[in-house]
This record gives sequence, structure tokens and C-alpha cells, in this order.
Amino acid sequence: MLAHLVGEYYDGNLEAAVAAALREVEGAYGLAIISADEPGILVAARKGSPLLVGVGENEWFVASDASPLLQYTRSVVYLDDGEMVVLSRDGYRVRNLETTRISKPVNQIDWDLAMVERNGYAHFMLKEICEQPESLCNTLRGHLLEEEGTARVSGLNMSDDQLKHVERIIITACGTSWHSALIGEYMLEEMARIPVEVEYASEFRYRNPVVDQRTLVIGISQSGETADTLAAIREAKRRGARTIGLVNVVGSTIAREVDGGIYLHAGPEVGVASTKAFTSQVAALALVTLRIARLRNLSILQGREFIQGLRVLPDQIAAILQRSSELEQLAERFLSTATNALYLGRGVNFPVALEGALKLKEISYIHAEGYPAAEMKHGPIALIDENMPVVFIAPKDAVHSKIVSNIEEVKARGGKVIALINEGDTEIERLADATFTIPVTLDLLTPILTSIPLQLLSYSVAVARGCNVDQPRNLAKSVTVE
Ligand code: G6P
Repeated sequence: MLAHLVGEYYDGNLEAAVAAALREVEGAYGLAIISADEPGILVAARKGSPLLVGVGENEWFVASDASPLLQYTRSVVYLDDGEMVVLSRDGYRVRNLETTRISKPVNQIDWDLAMVERNGYAHFMLKEICEQPESLCNTLRGHLLEEEGTARVSGLNMSDDQLKHVERIIITACGTSWHSALIGEYMLEEMARIPVEVEYASEFRYRNPVVDQRTLVIGISQSGETADTLAAIREAKRRGARTIGLVNVVGSTIAREVDGGIYLHAGPEVGVASTKAFTSQVAALALVTLRIARLRNLSILQGREFIQGLRVLPDQIAAILQRSSELEQLAERFLSTATNALYLGRGVNFPVALEGALKLKEISYIHAEGYPAAEMKHGPIALIDENMPVVFIAPKDAVHSKIVSNIEEVKARGGKVIALINEGDTEIERLADATFTIPVTLDLLTPILTSIPLQLLSYSVAVARGCNVDQPRNLAKSVTVE
């Protein structure tokens, strides 16, 4: 339809025809348009969908993402909504639908090509899972203030006074990022004592949310381009809220539109199923939480203890990754031929159960549900029989004794229990059909460790089933449409 509309306006000037046509258009688009009559010209335009210009030496490119440009150039110009670019042999010119020239800064991308290649790994997803000790370090780098027991988060662009007096927080996101948001809710409420709501961006944008100047809205997005999350951020801003973004892709639309934020610096994530971005999102939420909590009620000693916990996570993740063959065996024994699976956790590990189930669904096409372990008796328990693998996330935390009873309930009905536990947990070892141990950390930081074996488990299942791990059917890495 757009091609026809541009054709209607065309009388020898492609640029003018595109601008005229787009002035009439509603909805989202990312376009690159050529005309047989003007072979030397390419006109590109964006609204809602990402678009950027790569600036090389006597060559120019347009793409919806920086990764494919890296083999040609690191210099890019990010277009904003309503802008167009006209490329010709002589260079590029950015304009909007009314004005014929606007000036835009050229940005430098600091990722290199090796970072977006597989580096000998069978799949991007595996590479990205294995990068987590490093990606987590990169997220935390420069943010931890050991002495003061707090975090430096100047990118939020909020004074201590503003942070201290936040009355309410809404975290909005989609997919895996929504799961990290739920973990953030547990952290912020527990440590900073601020009421937090977590909302799917797609729901937030279309209802009438109670949001005003006293609300802080946090948007979480790996790509920084998810259409629903972007629209939710815009809606929050329109209602006067302060917005911050926890985003991985530098220069992405969400990163540019929020009032402040933290870049995850997890490096490019290529596998459609998000892994390292998830742990980095949780870490970024931990930084925001620590800063606000220290301004409110957390003591310096508690702050230092939290920092200690964060500091050792990369090594703890590395120790888990070394034991990936154990998870391959568990995948083979319990999940590869299953048709359904249940993931159960409590407290801050309930969102990890959701994420574990999502990972399995996404890449191995096995139907899986994540549930709060105690809620199981209100429904999913009816599904349990000897064919149902049930993955419990059960570190020795404050709700450990409760989860032990949930495991007993599943065993009593013939379910197969695979449990993630801490070393020396003989109680669950006796009950479960199989266990995988994770290192001990603070209760609120356990998700960063418990999510790793679940990522490896789904990866192994998908490989065993011959699935296309990096590009599962029907899914997209970045969902730039509603
Ligand atoms: C897609 C991806 C998911 C991702 C979600 C949100 O569905 O396949 O892996 O979690 O989008 O993406 P975002 O870039 O906003 O974190």
C-alpha cells in the first residue's frame, strides 16, 4: 500500500513523494525506498520501527539494527520517529517530513565484529550463556561503591533527594525482561520498602494506569526497541511520570527517550531466547535497589554485604557453567522426550520458574508452565503423573521449608522432581529424583544463579530435539510491531 501511495505522489522526485505520502500515513513503519526512475537515490524513513544509517568511507548503509553494519563501519546516525534519510552517491542527508535538512550527530559503536560472531560455539545462545561471568562484570563495572556500601547510578539523572522520595515504582517490560522486572519488585520492596507494580507493557499502554509525577516508571528492554515497551514509556511520560530505562542496546529508541537509565553493557545478544541480558537486567535492578535502599533504610553494613554478594556472582556463575554436562544428562533423562513440564519456585525464585518455563517453550517447543510452588495445589497439581517432569527452584532461603512440602506433594502424586538446591541440602536430595547444586548467595541474588542451569537445561533439550536454537519458529529477537 505504501508503495502505491508513494507512486500516487510521484512526479519525478522520489524524496518529495515519500515525504508527501508519509504525511498521510498512520502507524509504524521502517522503510527503504528506491525508484527505477531515480537509480542513484535511496530514501529511508522511520516511525515506530528502528532505523539507522551506517556512515562508511564513500559508502552509506541503512539497517534496522547496528549488528549487520559492523563489518563495514562503526559510525552510525540514529534516526528518530518522523525522520527520513536520503542517500545518494554524494552522501546522506537527514530530514523530517516537513523540513528538508536537519543535523544529527554521528555516534560510534564500541562493539566489534568478534563480539557478534559465534567464536567457535555451536550456537549464539550457548555463547551468550557462557559469557555471563563477563557480561555480569560489565554490567556492574564502575557502579559499586564498596566503602559507602552503595551503588553509583548517576545515569538515572535523579538527585539523591528525588530518589529518596519516590513514592511508587512501576516496572514495565515484555517477555524475559518482564520476568526480570518481577525479580526487581521483590528486591525493591524488600530492601527499599517502596511499593512496586510490574506490568506487561502491552497492558499498561492500553489501560488507564494511575501514574503521576510521584511515580517512577522503569522500562526494561534488551533491544530498546520493543514496540509495546516503548509505547508504555511514552504513555508514562505523557502522564508526567519520571522514566528510566534499563537497556542493553546503546542508542536504541527506548534508551534515547527515557529521562535516565543504566546501560546493561552485556554486549550484543543474538540468540532469540534472551539469556545474558536477563542476568544483567537483574543486576541493574540490584544497583537501582541498592542506591534507593541506602538512601532510605538500608545500613552501610547491609549495603556492603549486598555488594560482596554481587561481586562474587561472576565466579559463582563460572563454577555452574563448568558443570554443564550434568545438565545435559538431566535434560536427556527427564525433559527431551517430555510433552509438558512444570517449573515451580517461591518468593524471588517464582519469576525464575516463569523464565525457566519460557526458555523451554521458546526453543524446544515443549509446553511448560511456571508457577508459584504453593499455588500449584489450585490447579496444576491435577496434571501431575509419572510423565510430568517438575523442576523446583529450591535454594536454602527463607521459604525453603515451604518448598520441601511442595516437593512432597508432587512426589506423592508420582511426578518426577528435578531440584536446584544448595550444596548439602540432604532433605531435598532424599526427596527429589535428581538435583543440581548452586553456590550459596544472598536470598535476593539467587535468581542470577538459579537461572543459569535452567538456561543450560533448555539449551540441551533443544539441541537433543534438533530444534533451531538461535532462531526458533515464529519468534523474533526484537518485536518492533504491536
Ligand atoms: C522478544 C524476544 C524475547 C524478549 C522480548 C522482549 O519476544 O524474543 O527474548 O524477552 O522480545 O524484548 P526486549 O528487547 O524488550 O527485552
